[in-house]
Amino acid sequence: MHEFDATAALHSCWATGRELFSSVSYECSWQLFFIGLLLSLLLISNNVVYAAPDSPDAARRMELIKMVRNDCGSCHGIQLTGGLGLPLTPDALKKKPDSALVATILYGRPGTPMPPWRDFMSESEAEWIVESLKLGFPNVNSH
Ligand code: HEC
Repeated sequence: MHEFDATAALHSCWATGRELFSSVSYECSWQLFFIGLLLSLLLISNNVVYAAPDSPDAARRMELIKMVRNDCGSCHGIQLTGGLGLPLTPDALKKKPDSALVATILYGRPGTPMPPWRDFMSESEAEWIVESLKLGFPNVNSH
């Protein structure tokens, strides 16, 4: 008979809450739960965006950009469009899983000229390079 009216429900929830004052009524506990859930999701997503653990800082990113442009560029082409090495453009990489590309960078490909880079960068730095390659790799001067 009665349609569900969210505003009225919330209102009566607050009213009950005020009546009981100290103890939260069962009727509105799901609403409080939901608000709490939203707040914690907000906090978690904030953390992921602004405090990604071990992602390289600005100075290190600059070094990595130079390394990729110079050292990797000598085989993969100055524009990373391929040469002796395969193209590293967003289009060429989009269907390849990040983990496989990160492993190729860190450990190289035995039997091919692709050398391992694990002595020169950490795993999270290789991850950053793969993410950046997939987005379109920055130029030395664009940072
Ligand atoms: C001496 C030449 C050489 C250098 C330097 C080099 N690569 Fe490579 N790389 C290759 C070759 C050749 C391949 C293809 C291997 C194969 O045939 O599977 C390759 C493959 C790759 C792949 C896999 C591409 C795909 O589509 O599967 C990635 C990613 C990659 N290189 C990244 C890098 C990065 C990043 C650097 C610099 C830190 C670098 N390479 C430096 C020669 C090189």
